[in-house]
Amino acid sequence: MNRTPRRPEAPTDLSLFSLAIEDAAGPALLLDADLRIVHVTPGAERLLGESVPLGVLAPKALCGAAVDRPIAEALAAGRAVTGLVHRPVAGGGERVLRVRANPLLGARDERVGWLLLVDEERREEGDARAPVLFHGMWTMDPSMKRVFHVIERAARRDASVLVRGETGSGKELVARAIHALSPRAKGPFVAINCSALPATLLESELFGHVKGAFTGAVRDNVGLFRAANKGTIFLDEIAEVPVELQAKLLRVLETRTVLPVGGREAISVDVRVVAATHQSLRTAVERGTFRADLMYRLRVVPIFLPPLRMRSGDVGLVAQRLIEELNEGGGRRVARLAPGALAAMQRYPWPGNIRELRNALEYAYVVGEGPVLNEGELPAEIVDPGLAGDGAGIVVSAPPAPAPEDPTKSPEVQRIERALERVGGNRERAAQVLGMSRVTLWRRMKALGMADE
Ligand SMILES: Nc1ncnc2c1ncn2[C@@H]1O[C@H](COP(=O)(O)OP(=O)(O)OP(=O)(O)O)[C@@H](O)[C@H]1O
Ligand SMILES: [Mg+2]
Repeated sequence: MNRTPRRPEAPTDLSLFSLAIEDAAGPALLLDADLRIVHVTPGAERLLGESVPLGVLAPKALCGAAVDRPIAEALAAGRAVTGLVHRPVAGGGERVLRVRANPLLGARDERVGWLLLVDEERREEGDARAPVLFHGMWTMDPSMKRVFHVIERAARRDASVLVRGETGSGKELVARAIHALSPRAKGPFVAINCSALPATLLESELFGHVKGAFTGAVRDNVGLFRAANKGTIFLDEIAEVPVELQAKLLRVLETRTVLPVGGREAISVDVRVVAATHQSLRTAVERGTFRADLMYRLRVVPIFLPPLRMRSGDVGLVAQRLIEELNEGGGRRVARLAPGALAAMQRYPWPGNIRELRNALEYAYVVGEGPVLNEGELPAEIVDPGLAGDGAGIVVSAPPAPAPEDPTKSPEVQRIERALERVGGNRERAAQVLGMSRVTLWRRMKALGMADE
């Protein structure tokens, strides 16, 4: 934005000027230093719903409703501000506009005017904070609702989707939702975890092999790409695909054909690809462990799933829904969460996200009884944030006494050790307790120097 004041002798083809502002910044109003409206672009006029007389004070013209006072006051005080204003709409109802007021500064940093950018506040359907259930995913968080909107739009097209999210945040549910909402819904949905297999095995799993291709290949195997024909293939933990296989995967995506291991002829496949990763592919590219060209093929539509701790209101909501589900299972019937239990859950950072939340509740069903789910029935690391690594750091009264800690060990190492101890060294169950997959636990243990293999 040009920061010098408009001089009176400057060319004044206002329609051109208007178009230029709208093109660069969207619908806008220009005010002078005294907050008088000196110009309104056509888009802003449409949004405001009536022609705005020039020369009037902007706070008065725009902020009619009492609720709009904060923005009027900020303007009067000369502060840059973003806020909502409410405009009546012809025929009843009102429209909510988001107004961003930016001061325009002159050569000596004095305020010579204001640029007010206006756009319509997109309201979520119904109440923005209302709980919704979308293909198995509960949420009341606006950013998750936007994710659902992107899923709906992306599903209709055949573009490759890359879902990024922490472990247990719902990546597989997203992939299934995309499939279910797509024109391929009647076709197969095939999922594979790319981190679980060594390169050679993964190649034959994905692309198939012909009989005799290697020792043990006693019959032809069509492979998952062909098994997913007319449907969707879900490539989970895509960042873990060994580099030597990435070129082959890229070729499959480019040519839409697969070459089975030991085969001579490429076979056409009609498959939509949804991939998922818990880590940034871009970082993997920078580290040289992932091909940039493959990343661009896969992330035509990137979807970022926020972690549970960033979804406002969701810990309580999802816990409630999971409790209803667990009640169905017979055994204990929980009528409500004790306030202390809810508070502890809201403080906890949930590194294992919804899966960890579900496991924590299942744990409470096993160790506790009665209609009220109490704080003391939750796994120790949830009640005592000190055990949960770099968690919230708030000490809650009466946690089960933790074992003396070894200050030379990182909190994550201690947490994993404690989980292993609690389940007698069984990694499968330790992973469940920690709310992560067995593979993730193994990967973390390896990274922390705790795994011997
Ligand atoms: N918003 C939600 N509401 C209710 N349940 C959910 C929600 N999101 C995920 N879940 C449940 O949480 C568990 C984990 O979800 P999912 O397997 O899709 O996560 P993921 O991101 O694929 O995990 P991982 O990285 O470990 O593979 C599943 O049991 C799923 O049904
Ligand atoms: Mg998964």
